[in-house]
Amino acid sequence: MTFSRNPFCSSLLLASLFLSLTVILKNWHFGLQENKPFGDAGGPDGLTPARDRLLQQLKERQQELELLDITFDNKQGFMDPSFSTNDSAVYINGKLSSDNPLTAKTDIGCEELSGIKAVDFLGSGYTKTVLKAALPQGLFVALKSINHQGTDMRLCMEDFQDSQGCNELVSFKLRKEIVLLQRLQHTNIVELKGQCQDSALVGGITAVLEQGMPLQMIQLLQSPWEERFRVCLGLVQLLQYLSHSPLGSVALLDFQPRQFVMVSGELKLTDLDDASIQEPACQEDSDCLLQFPLRNFTLRCSFSRTCEGLNEMRNLYNAYRYFFTYLLPHQAPPLLKPLIHQIMNSTGELKQSINETLVAFEEVLHMYKSGLHLENLPPSITRDYAVLKGMRSVANMEYRCWPSYKQQGCVLSVHSAREAALICSSHPQCTSFSLSSEKTWTGRLLASFRSGFSHLVPDVNSAVYMRRVKASGAVL
Ligand SMILES: Nc1ncnc2c1ncn2[C@@H]1O[C@H](COP(=O)(O)OP(=O)(O)O)[C@@H](O)[C@H]1O
Ligand SMILES: [Mg+2]
Repeated sequence: MTFSRNPFCSSLLLASLFLSLTVILKNWHFGLQENKPFGDAGGPDGLTPARDRLLQQLKERQQELELLDITFDNKQGFMDPSFSTNDSAVYINGKLSSDNPLTAKTDIGCEELSGIKAVDFLGSGYTKTVLKAALPQGLFVALKSINHQGTDMRLCMEDFQDSQGCNELVSFKLRKEIVLLQRLQHTNIVELKGQCQDSALVGGITAVLEQGMPLQMIQLLQSPWEERFRVCLGLVQLLQYLSHSPLGSVALLDFQPRQFVMVSGELKLTDLDDASIQEPACQEDSDCLLQFPLRNFTLRCSFSRTCEGLNEMRNLYNAYRYFFTYLLPHQAPPLLKPLIHQIMNSTGELKQSINETLVAFEEVLHMYKSGLHLENLPPSITRDYAVLKGMRSVANMEYRCWPSYKQQGCVLSVHSAREAALICSSHPQCTSFSLSSEKTWTGRLLASFRSGFSHLVPDVNSAVYMRRVKASGAVL
């Protein structure tokens, strides 16, 4: 990000963000309940057509939030017929009531946020701005609030010229996101750590989220296959959850890499305001058309006259076109290639459900972890190496390889010493490698390859393997 490379620009941007937050803090004093959102109105009934339309849109967004609650209650099997809009006001105008089990984890509120300091800018989109902030205990979190310079706000202002009304309209998107984050909890969705909807304290609605790093596709493309596979597997697990979520089948309408962040190597969805829990109604199959720039699919119109499964298929094809095509096939272990090819084929043609896709991914993971795909390695290969157990190489005789876990050296994940020996034998510079107890997320070992060693020290958790032919100086 150019922003982070230029400290002057970053401070300027941070300063302007602070400034706008402060301005909102001073001026933003309305909420749905305190309503009189639009100040003085024109026209005999106090409403102009533009304000009518704005009111209508606000009403629709309010209803959308209520629908989320009703659907959730229905799916949980405790629909209360006396449910009223008062219930939704609980989360629209403040934190969810504390006896709600869904709030158990979301304990950072307005009070904690009022003294919090933003330390960096993390990203922004059409609707929201995200800042990094430090909690007093030293924990970093991401604070999401409305992007007052964003496209959503600009388009609303062009339409209605009403800053308070537009603020409220755009805020509904973040409100919806907060409700969804409370309802949908999964390892591959960012965790909601708290929220504040009290404008006087923090200047507008704010969601407190676990902090990640914006997804950098270019960086990911350069990372080891194992890490790219982890991202794709996480995505499939997420889509499987979304397909059978407590809200029913959820579609991500704005499905793009920038809606995700990385937290310790794990992919997490952060932008949920464009999620939909509805599947289209239909009369016939041709109503269930799923359109993409390069492909169209037609799904079945079910007995209940809905395009059942459309949300699931939309998500799956988007995962294929935005993630799998770039991340999965490239540099896959040769013996896993047929399985990967099958996954690419079935998702690219939407031939399998998300459940079946997850099974296929788990099979790949199982093979990769167990080393089954390496069964054909010559067992004799380690005989070319002398082993020094309980030793570690400290000299800096490293060479670079790609795609290494370490920028300055050649560190690759291996299933066993045998696989590491095979790799070392295929690198002309390699004269030794060492294995430590350090492991990757799949449990594979991290092997460090070297072009020489001048100094070894004792280390019970490490072993150094020296290539005999090269170590003796003999020509291969
Ligand atoms: N939890 C987070 N940690 C780090 N960066 C984040 C986090 N959430 C969002 N971002 C960054 O902020 C950007 C804007 O957030 P997003 O929710 O996508 O807003 P919008 O709805 O405006 O697109 C994202 O593209 C992402 O790069
Ligand atoms: Mg976004």
